[in-house]
Amino acid sequence: MSHINYDPAYKAHDRDDFDSLLRVDRYAERSSDFDEIIARTNEHFWDPLDADYIDYQQAFDMKNEPVIPLDMVGELSSEVAGKLKGREIEFANQSARFMLSQILHGEQGALSLSTSLCQVFVDPGAVEYASNQVREEARHVTAFTEYMKARFDGQPYPVGQTLGQLMNEIYLAPEVYKKIVGMQLLVEGLAMGAFASLYKFAEDPLLRRTAQLVMTDEAFHHKFGKIWADATIENLAEDERIAVEDWAERCFGALLYNLAGANQKQHVYEGFGIDPEWATAAMREAFTDTKRREVMQRPTSIFRVLIKTLVKAGIITDRTRATYAMWVDMKELQSEGDRMVGDDIAEEGIQDLQAINATKKRIIKKI
Ligand SMILES: [Fe+2]
Ligand SMILES: [Fe+2]
Repeated sequence: MSHINYDPAYKAHDRDDFDSLLRVDRYAERSSDFDEIIARTNEHFWDPLDADYIDYQQAFDMKNEPVIPLDMVGELSSEVAGKLKGREIEFANQSARFMLSQILHGEQGALSLSTSLCQVFVDPGAVEYASNQVREEARHVTAFTEYMKARFDGQPYPVGQTLGQLMNEIYLAPEVYKKIVGMQLLVEGLAMGAFASLYKFAEDPLLRRTAQLVMTDEAFHHKFGKIWADATIENLAEDERIAVEDWAERCFGALLYNLAGANQKQHVYEGFGIDPEWATAAMREAFTDTKRREVMQRPTSIFRVLIKTLVKAGIITDRTRATYAMWVDMKELQSEGDRMVGDDIAEEGIQDLQAINATKKRIIKKI
């Protein structure tokens, strides 16, 4: 039960069972499911420390310009705004610092999680895929660390309590389905939605470029989760299906609470002399469920992207439909095609990287 596995490609063994990796027959038992994703790795290679791809020395007037648009900062449409006394731009930038810090911690979570998948997968193709993801998540950690250095003196905020707990649970879970549903489908889905919004709306060109480059990798990570769901969900026995559906609902709730819950931003509020409990109450008053629903209906809403991921993976049934129907039009989501909101952005980014990488190859050949 614990591994819930129907496709040999996702077969898992105990993390500490090193001997079974040395079984001589295992090397040739390699699935080809991930060959295309692995083969395309070099197409979207990029290096956050190489200015040919992205230049973290680019300046930005942090005193007078917000890195994200002011309407992305919920507090500015609530009573909290009245306490800022001309420090609105500074508050917007600290809110961006909070959000990007959570993304940085999320990237570390994805890096650790894909490392843990490497340790438990038996199929050599799945191991190769997961190790490739480890390498890509590592450059995302580098990229957001560079952004923190460039704009926030290299000082990220601590991880929000709910996000930290959720990632800890996913990382330690021995069950592969918990890792794939929690991280590959939900956290990666959330990342795709968040990066699509940043790419489209951020005011700082450096942040837009970071989001675009990260998306060229994330689109593949999200696909890996989708390949698992396609091979698994329809084969599940009833008790297994319920376990997967309940786990997805739990992760969704934690992510929603982390990103929408103002109480996670206490460090930001404290820096402006605002009582976090009072601010949380003011935000609750300004963002009623009706207002939140309005925001979530927008195609770029990160939670809409998340719910669509679960709908398209066939994970949501009538048992938990109400949790999601509160926020979005489920029928509309069901009828939409499979393309995700960030897919076009990722493809454009990959074309750009192919062009840069072609010039790089010429330079290497000259040497
Ligand atoms: Fe990532
Ligand atoms: Fe990822």
